[in-house]
Amino acid sequence: MNYKVPNLRFTCNALEPFLNEHTLQYHYQHHHQDYVTRLNDLLELCPTQIRNKPLEDIIADISVIPGEYRQGIRNYGGGHLNHSLWWQILSPPHTTHPQGELLKTINFAFGGFDNFKAIFKRIALERFGSGWTWLGMDHLGKIDITSTPNEDSPIMLGFRPLLGIDLWEHAYYLNYQHRRGDYINAWWHVIDWSRVSQLFDMYRETILHPK
Ligand SMILES: [Fe+2]
Repeated sequence: MNYKVPNLRFTCNALEPFLNEHTLQYHYQHHHQDYVTRLNDLLELCPTQIRNKPLEDIIADISVIPGEYRQGIRNYGGGHLNHSLWWQILSPPHTTHPQGELLKTINFAFGGFDNFKAIFKRIALERFGSGWTWLGMDHLGKIDITSTPNEDSPIMLGFRPLLGIDLWEHAYYLNYQHRRGDYINAWWHVIDWSRVSQLFDMYRETILHPK
């Protein structure tokens, strides 16, 4: 399969002032595109039965990849999955928090939405170097916060990601320099909670009513 960077649902200046145009342009047009190019180049070198597997399945069991290409596909394949979600869950500012079942579930799991944000931010600040922090759902439908280094996907830990923050400096340095905490505070303003809720409903449905 030949992977592509997904279309953006908004213009690169649409998340101003929280994430500036320059940051989004470089992130989308260069960093994500570079991951996709390198992923496709590496998959070309792999046997056909691997190339035809869904990328999520490959990343969930990276041991299927021949050793010489394994770390590259882990990096660039994980990077493609992580960033494909990233562009989906961002939107111009319009909502400040989730609603309905997702909000109830977050409140139950973390003792309130503000508490959830505080725990999420602490874990994101504790991620040393590059990586991501996630809100994900496990195979029993329980939600939790987790963090992964580099471009590792939460799928590798058995979590389906609902929401994630990119903690690579390329995601914020042009805007916030070393101030990761300011970036996290701003990022809450540009989350598309309706999309996060859709993912929550979809994953829960597959757990409650497996095919
Ligand atoms: Fe990134």
